[in-house]
Order: sequence, then structure tokens, then C-alpha cells
Amino acid sequence: MRTTVGIIGAGPAGLLLARLLHGAGIGSVVLESRDRAYVEQRQRAGILEQGTADVLRAAGAGERMDRQGLRHDGIELRFAGRRHRVDFPGLTGGRSVTVYAQTEVCKDLIALQAEEGGPLLFGAEALAVEGATGDRPSVRYRHEGRESVLECDYVVGCDGFRGVAREAVPAALARVHERTYPFGWLGVLADVPPSHDELVYARHDRGFALLSMRSPAVSRLYLQVPADTDARSWTDEAVWDELARRLETDDDWSLARGPITRKSVTPMRSYVHEPMRHGRLFLAGDAAHIVPPTGAKGLNLAVGDVVTFARALTHRRETGSAELLDAYSATCLRRVWQAERFSYDLTTMLHRAPDATPFEDRLQLARLDRITTSRAAEADLAEAYTGFPVG
Ligand code: APR
Ligand code: PHB
Repeated sequence: MRTTVGIIGAGPAGLLLARLLHGAGIGSVVLESRDRAYVEQRQRAGILEQGTADVLRAAGAGERMDRQGLRHDGIELRFAGRRHRVDFPGLTGGRSVTVYAQTEVCKDLIALQAEEGGPLLFGAEALAVEGATGDRPSVRYRHEGRESVLECDYVVGCDGFRGVAREAVPAALARVHERTYPFGWLGVLADVPPSHDELVYARHDRGFALLSMRSPAVSRLYLQVPADTDARSWTDEAVWDELARRLETDDDWSLARGPITRKSVTPMRSYVHEPMRHGRLFLAGDAAHIVPPTGAKGLNLAVGDVVTFARALTHRRETGSAELLDAYSATCLRRVWQAERFSYDLTTMLHRAPDATPFEDRLQLARLDRITTSRAAEADLAEAYTGFPVG
């Protein structure tokens, strides 16, 4: 099989890239190792930056998002019994975010790909990227028990943190920057209306907690837990009790409880692979970088990468100039490192490390106090949370 762009992975990065290329009249083939049901039900984050929502709309994938997504103009910070709302539009000149689950974004893009896109092969596991530094890169893959080769002009590895595309970059040329955290998130999905109309980020001496949502009837909540926690060791009652403790306030607010329908633990990691390009192989999304979920940047960074690639390849075809393709890695990494900085800052400000000292506790409270008393500090958070410019 032959195509212009071989895309490995049908997560948000791969699916949106296929859609953007289709819109530019550029052919692609998507190889996805798992089945459609797995991709569509995999629980991930649910916050779309304004820029991400705009890209989805422009790509014709925003109709259900606009109908079912929830526009949020702020978040609440809770610490030391205090509550402070961060007003996004007031601090960023009108920007907001949309609460719309990644599962829904993927369903919308898969439906569009099936209707009018190029081939999207589920159950097609890429085994290796070959010839990346030549003019004819290819992807060797296994599908329906048979090994085949997808010949391309370009390959984009959208295959996530555990994919194979990164392996095609010689170790001698790769620079990896990473940090693992001594804690993770226990995430639950519950059939109960959210107890607050916006997201709540809580810093508590017992650990971080986050109140989020999927709809007016479904809550999504997280608890900081030790990195090696087994989700099965937490009963539903223990989850609700701990969430109530960490989200407590000095006023009459209370946390509504309901049936928990999903429970899982997510590890915390910061990771950046440089460069994000090797010859005609380009890396996008989690294949190139990971952020701790605190800042809800993972999906939004993936969108920024594939918008940058699609824009660069379109430019190459329209002008013959490879300048934007040559700048792809540097362009993406500038945005990636801003998101890494923001996600690291938010994570270290709100999570209490197992070996935290009283000094570090007071430092966290001072950082939070600064955000609630300085418009400049608050605006930095609001700008980063609602999104970095793409390209
Ligand atoms: N061959 C084919 N597909 C593969 C292979 C392979 N060898 N390895 C992985 N994949 C697929 C995975 O099954 C997955 O569907 O690549 C896809 C990668 O998707 P994501 O991991 O979601 O990565 P990305 O599209 O970059 O989206 C980043 O997803 O994981 C979240 O928090 C992350 O929100 C962020 C977003
Ligand atoms: C989510 O709703 O899954 C979510 C929201 C905000 C975050 C992380 C996850 O910072």
C-alpha cells in the first residue's frame, strides 16, 4: 500500500492529523493497533483549550462539541480552607475552555474518517518505521495476521508514549528529558451531578484532589495517591470520604456522592523527546512528550503538533519550500516546553510529596497566596491554562 502520509496511531493526534490532511487534499493512511471500541472508550482528560476547540470546528469536527461540550470561564483553587476563582476571560482578554471528553473527540473524528477520510485500519500494529532518512520511508505493520509495508512520502508517529515510531530515531541523535513523580492520580467516573459548576483544584495536607466533570450528570474526580497504588485497594466509600476531606471548605459547600462506574490509577511523568523529527519521520503528541495531567495539556499539545505538521506540509506542497517542515521540531518544542513548565509548576504547587518538609508546605501556600493576590501571577495561570498559541 502507498500513501503520502503514513500515520501511526488513532488517538487524538493521529485522527486529527488525518482530518487536517484530508481538508488540505493530502492523502494519508492511519494504522491503529487496537480496535475501535478501545480507542473510543479509553478514559483520558476532558479540557479543550480555546485554540483546540477552534481547530476542531474549522476541521468540521466541532458540531457535537458545541452541542454537548460545556464552556467554562474559570476554575476554583482551594487551599487552607480558602476558595479562589480564577476568571479566564477577565485575565486573558476573553479566552475560555471547553469541557468535552477526549473519548468524544475521538468518536467524532473516527466517524468523520469513516464517512469521508482515507483508510483507518484498526488492529494494524506498526512494527517499525524504515528508511526515515531517505525519500521513501515506510512502515512495516501486521494486520489480520499478515505483515505488510505502507510506503509513504512522510511518516508521522502519533503512537503515544509506548509506540514504536520514536525507536526509529538513532539514540545518538536523541535527547530525552524526563522526571517521574512519587505519586499518581486515582481517577473515578461517577453517575452524580458535579458538586460545583466549574473545576476545583484542591491543595490539602493529605494530598491533591480535583473535581471535574463529563456532563451535568456525570462527575470525574481525582485523588493524589502513591505512585504504586492499586485502584482495587480503594472502596467507593473510601474514595468519597477522602475526596470530601481534601475538597473541604470553611463554608457550607458539600460533595454529592453517587455510584462510581470507573476507577483507575494514572502515573505522573514529565517527558520530552528531542528532536521531534528525523528525516521524513515526524513525532507528534504523546509519542514525543508527556505532561503530568494537572494542567490538562496532553491532548492540547497533540493538537498543536499536528496543526503545525499539516500547516508545514501544505506550505511545502504550495510553495516548494521545506522551511516550515525544517522548523517543525523547534516550533513544537517551544510550545511543549511552555506546557511542561506550566504542568510542572501546577503539579508541584498542588501535590504534597510523601517526603514534603514544613518549609515546602509553606512554600506551596505562599505560591497559592501569590496567585490569589497578584493579578500578574493569576494571569500567568489563566493564560497557560486556556492555551498557548499554535505555530
Ligand atoms: N501501531 C499502531 N498503533 C499504535 C502502536 C503501534 N505500534 N502503538 C500505539 N498505538 C496507538 C495506541 O493504541 C493509541 O490509540 O497509538 C495511539 C496513541 O494515542 P494516545 O496515546 O492517545 O496519544 P496521542 O494521540 O498523542 O494523544 C495524546 O492522549 O494519552 C492521552 O493524555 C494523553 O490527552 C493526551 C492524548
Ligand atoms: C479531566 O476532566 O479528566 C481533567 C480535567 C482537568 C485536568 C485533568 C483532567 O487538569
